Amino acid sequence: MDMTIERVNDFDGYNWLPLLAKSSQEGFQFIEYMLRNRRQETFQETGEALFVVLSTTGQLIACGGYTKQPHQASTGRIRHVYVLPEARSHGIGTALLEKIVSEAFLTYDRLVLYSEQADPFYQGLGFRPATGEKITHALDKSAFANSNR
Ligand code: COA
Repeated sequence: MDMTIERVNDFDGYNWLPLLAKSSQEGFQFIEYMLRNRRQETFQETGEALFVVLSTTGQLIACGGYTKQPHQASTGRIRHVYVLPEARSHGIGTALLEKIVSEAFLTYDRLVLYSEQADPFYQGLGFRPATGEKITHALDKSAFANSNR
């Protein structure tokens, strides 16, 4: 599917309302949380980034990013991954995660995330089940590097 992945430098440059509405309807609170906190957590610090996916007509159809995992210098956390329901199963989530993961491993040795619902998606990308506070999956840089040789 044709799409553009873009780094978010200014939250207010996008129309988030469709993502906000659909994610809330589905019971995912993290988009609302992210938007409420956008002045405090800007994703502009070293070791963090937020990306959006735009359709060919410029509509916002997905988002996702990474930040530092608190108290663990070499671990990053993947966050706020969401694809609009009508845009799913076209490879958008995979393309977005490939962007996030390859960039995050420039900074971190390990990536963790929390997802109760998308285990097959993350396992398909090489993540493995993991335990820890608010952690369900993890991927080590060495495993990622070996799988991409
Ligand atoms: N549950 C189980 N498997 C899933 C899945 C889900 N929710 N979403 C994707 N997959 C698997 C499928 O095997 C899929 O292949 P298929 O479409 O041929 O069956 C494969 O992952 C690749 O999917 P892809 O098209 O690249 O992903 P996507 O664009 O549909 O996005 C999610 C995947 C999980 C990001 C998207 O479904 C989503 O936003 N879900 C709701 C929010 C969420 O669960 N976020 C994760 C919390 S961090």
